[in-house]
Amino acid sequence: MAMVCLSDFEAYAKKYLPKMAWDYFAAGADDCITRDENILAYKRIRFRPRMLRDVSVMDIRTKILGSEISFPVGIAPTGFHQLAWPDGEKSTARAARAMNTCYIASTYSTSALEEISAAAPDGLRWFQLYIHRNRAVPQQLVQRAEALGFQALVLSVDLAYTGKRRDDVRNGFRLPPHMKLKNLEGAFEVCKTSPGDPSVSWNDIYWLRSLTRLPIIIKGILTREDAELAVRHGVQGIIVSNHGGRQLDEVPATIDALVEVVEAVRGRVEVYVDGGIRKGSDVLKALALGAKCVFIGRPALWGLAYKGEEGLQDVLRILQDEFRLSMALAGCANISEIGPHLVQFSKL
Ligand code: FNR
Repeated sequence: MAMVCLSDFEAYAKKYLPKMAWDYFAAGADDCITRDENILAYKRIRFRPRMLRDVSVMDIRTKILGSEISFPVGIAPTGFHQLAWPDGEKSTARAARAMNTCYIASTYSTSALEEISAAAPDGLRWFQLYIHRNRAVPQQLVQRAEALGFQALVLSVDLAYTGKRRDDVRNGFRLPPHMKLKNLEGAFEVCKTSPGDPSVSWNDIYWLRSLTRLPIIIKGILTREDAELAVRHGVQGIIVSNHGGRQLDEVPATIDALVEVVEAVRGRVEVYVDGGIRKGSDVLKALALGAKCVFIGRPALWGLAYKGEEGLQDVLRILQDEFRLSMALAGCANISEIGPHLVQFSKL
């Protein structure tokens, strides 16, 4: 089977993954309106390409928080990579390193932070954190991540409780017994059942700040009000995200929320976006609307399900090639030439 676009990997994963794993990856909350809207919203945006602009030499590199990546697509944090491929997050780390991009490792990894950093010691990796009820848990995780060379903390703030994902409820979703939440083993056994602490509030950002010198990026912001609060609380970056439509259903598509957040932030911190990126042209639209970089969630899992590290590299390479081509056809030879003039919202 020729793998030409990301949907080919999706079809493969759907066909070959065990149903419970596929359903868990695909799930959205409730009616899945936001999950699907994340994708549809990109299809409503049209380009305004410029011609005769010499695109013979293309440079698609960019920087996030000062680190260079080969193109503006990183890997969003997702849990349980061993459900997709036996080597799990270790393969993800190697693929990200090989493609010279950023991998955000989830708290809910089936490989330990130590294994992830050993798999790709010089890779750019950030660590995604949930603040657990027992503050000793995040405190220990932050210290481990910092010592292991993770370069930023990504605090996910949209999981006070887990959204209602109907297929997971129907399937009675649980990890197979041989897979472990490696970062939460041992002393923190009790925390496995309740990911977040619903009492977390903005003051906890100050607490987190006191624990670490790493930059803090807040993931899950959808409004100008919260974007302003995030900047005021001293974060270094914002990921506009609705958790792939898995938390509160019927919030806007992230590409729509991006515009509001970028306006509110006014360049004071970097803004990234995830959710619904399935083509290189989606990446171009997100950058045109002010994102510094985008992150992919499910497509990375499809790549892993296809062929582990190699499959994820294939997914990233396809996105990279499509992005370069879209940029060139839109008349941009490098990232700094991408701007809001490139897009229009369709009146359809
Ligand atoms: C997620 N997401 C997520 N986010 C996070 O901060 N920590 C996590 O552990 C997870 N786990 C997770 C598992 C699965 C199976 C999915 C699909 C998603 C959300 C993820 O980081 C990201 O926001 C979305 O996946 C982006 O949407 P797309 O690219 O999947 O459309």
